[in-house]
Order: sequence, then C-alpha cells, then structure tokens
Amino acid sequence: MTIYTTSVAALALLLGTAHGHMVMTTPTSFNLHGTAKLLQVDPLGAFPFPCQGMFDVVETTSITAGNTQTVKVDGGAQHGGGSCQFSLTYENPPPADKSKWKTIYTIIGGCPVQAETNLPVTGLDADGRAQSLQCGNDSGVECIRQFDIPIPKELPNGNATFAWTWYNKIGNREVYMNCAPVTISGGAGNQQFFEDLPPLFLANVPGECTTGNGVFNIPNPGRYGRILEQPAPGNEGSCPKADLPTFEGGSGSGSGGGGNGSGGGSSVVPPPAPSSSAPPVACPPPSSSGFITQTVPASASPTSVVAAPAPSATNGGGGAGTVPPGGQPCPENGAIICFSPTSFGLCANGVAIPQPVAPGTTTAGIRKANDKFLKPNCPGV
Ligand SMILES: *[C@@H]1O[C@H](CO)[C@@H](O)[C@H](O)[C@H]1NC(C)=O
Ligand SMILES: *[C@@H]1O[C@H](CO)[C@@H](O)[C@H](O)[C@H]1NC(C)=O
Ligand SMILES: *[C@@H]1O[C@H](CO)[C@@H](O)[C@H](O)[C@H]1NC(C)=O
Repeated sequence: MTIYTTSVAALALLLGTAHGHMVMTTPTSFNLHGTAKLLQVDPLGAFPFPCQGMFDVVETTSITAGNTQTVKVDGGAQHGGGSCQFSLTYENPPPADKSKWKTIYTIIGGCPVQAETNLPVTGLDADGRAQSLQCGNDSGVECIRQFDIPIPKELPNGNATFAWTWYNKIGNREVYMNCAPVTISGGAGNQQFFEDLPPLFLANVPGECTTGNGVFNIPNPGRYGRILEQPAPGNEGSCPKADLPTFEGGSGSGSGGGGNGSGGGSSVVPPPAPSSSAPPVACPPPSSSGFITQTVPASASPTSVVAAPAPSATNGGGGAGTVPPGGQPCPENGAIICFSPTSFGLCANGVAIPQPVAPGTTTAGIRKANDKFLKPNCPGV
C-alpha cells in the first residue's frame, strides 16, 4: 500500500486509525463469519474483483422487489465516508465482468458516514473486527449510517448477489466491495429493465481510472439514489467528469419502494458546507494476518505508515513507545493482549491499552477469532 505524506498536525488524528475497514453486515456478506473471515483490511486491487474473491455463503437474505432492503455496515477506518453504489448480478458465480453488475442505487457522499476522520473504535465484534458507533439511521453524523435501499419492483426473481461498492472520501484512492447472496422474489421479472440499468462503476483498481480526492461523483449512477454531500472539486481524477445527477423522486422521504414508480425513494439532500480541509486518513499497510491494530493514545508513537517528519516521539515500527498508565508493553504489532475476561488491548507500536469487550461478550470470543491472541494477564482465559 502506498505511503502517505501528511502533516504533523494530522498525526494525532491518524493515531485513531483502525486497521480493518467497513464490512457489510446486513444483508449478510459472504464470509462474514467462518474460517476465511471477511476482514476488509485492503481494498479491491489487493483483493480481486468481484467481492474480494470471497464467496462462502453464511446466510442467504430474502429480498422482496418493490420493498426496501436495509443495509448496515460496521468496522473501523471509515475514511470520513465517501460515495457508494448498490448493485446486483444474477450470474453465478458472481462474474468478473463488471458490466454484468447493474446499479440499483447510488449515494453521493455521506456513505456510510459523514465524519471528519475515522470514528473511535468502540470494541470488537465476535469475529475480532473493529466496531464504531452506529447512527441507527441514514442521517446521523460522526456515526455509521444505515440505509434503506429501494429494490426496484421490475426486477427478475431468483438467486442473485447484492453488492456494496464504496469510494472512500479521504485517504488513498481506493474502492471496497462486499457482496451478499440474496434471493429476490415479488419482482415483475422484467429482464429488459435489469439489462437497462447502468453497470456498476469501477475505478481505483488496475486497468481503471483513478478518482480524485474527496467525495466522488460516481458517473452514470442511474435513476435512483441520493446526494448526501457535494462532490469535491477535482473529484473526477482521471475518471470521466460527470454532471451532478438528478435522481428520481426528490421527496426527501427516502422511504422508497412500494407503490411509487420504479422503486424510487430517491432524494436529494441539501449538502452541508463542505468541510474545508479534511486531513488525510491513512490506511495502515496490509497485514498478512488481517489483524486489527487500532487506537493508540497520543502519548504513543505514530504508526509506521506515516512518512512525514515524525514528532519527537519514538518512531513506530513495533518498538516500545512510552507506556501510558494501565498500558502494557507488547511484542508484536497486531497482537491482542488479554487483560481480563472482559478487557483486551491491541498491540500497536509496542503498547497495548486495555479496553472493554463488547457488551455480552468475553475475551474468549476474541481468542477464538485470533491466533495472535496473547494472554499474559489472563491465565484462565
Ligand atoms: C439519527 O441518528 C443520530 C445519531 O444516532 C441522532 O442524533 C439523530 O437524531 C437521528 N436523526 C433522526 C432523524 O432520527
Ligand atoms: C437458489 O439458491 C438456493 C440455495 O442455494 C437453491 O436451493 C435454489 O435451487 C436456487 N434457485 C435457483 C432458481 O437457482
Ligand atoms: C406515491 O404513492 C402514494 C401512496 O401510494 C401516493 O399517494 C402518491 O401520489 C404517489 N406519488 C407518486 C409520485 O407517484
């Protein structure tokens, strides 16, 4: 992964960076649980198109055409949000030909967060992935949004794959893709309608264009979608420059689906004032193990992805930095240190800081999910 240059002022923000990006949890992504767990440590490019090459079915979600499908994501490294698309293919296995993926909904900006930088990590899920605050709606700021995506009533019925593709707002120019197996019923079986939907837009992978910085205005987004933040000047990068879309509906209700038109439910939300100088947010370098490294208090040293002049603190790379009260030196970045059955710390720059496990869970669940689980303070776990 590319090395970033960034200002010293941004370092404090980078220290909140979590390793492991957003994953789609509803509908249930391929490999959401199981041995080859979806961790989304890297974007497409490092992983193959489509779907990061992950096709282990955990659960098939039933979708009714003409209704909405709630989409939820979770994880760290939200990169301030971005733009995203929801698409479908009926081909099995899910094809590597992007034209076989048809866009049903596009969100410009605000997907899946509208945030200044990465959100704090609030804990780990049972699979060891970082979690952050959920909004519980599609409009909260500084929290992870969920969206009710209108499913066009014209669609063919049958087994399909539903995809979420995401262009992050700040940080490296990247694209992420999670897919979920679905079964669509209640549709009008209009194959032509499906064929006429625009193809999924793909950029930021070898052989495709590269987006510019900030909120990306996804070209050819189709008739259904929302604009939640204004695209940034120059956001097209080397990709086609598109006019700001006018989506159908425009009611602002976002309720979509059901009786109106073609499963519209589109709206254009007046954008907030664009944040003037969002700092860059770095993705940590790929980790061979896919473990999560995360929040380090400001007293610790910056991570080694930062290429800018480091402040006077010890430089990163796994050497022990200053150990804050309650923290513990640890041998290996990415290791998880058990402090107690309900408290753990992620080793970053040689230091692990205790934090509570998610409510209702114990470190035993984290141990099962991670072979770099060290238990110096947990003889019983
Ligand atoms: C959306 O969620 C946020 C954060 O949870 C909350 O503050 C806000 O009031 C909610 N907005 C609506 C319209 O429910
Ligand atoms: C859809 O998938 C299910 C579960 O994999 C399978 O049993 C069913 O035969 C499939 N239906 C079609 C039409 O392919
Ligand atoms: C949408 O549906 C509602 C209720 O079914 C109806 O009252 C309204 O006129 C419809 N709007 C459009 C734009 O078709």
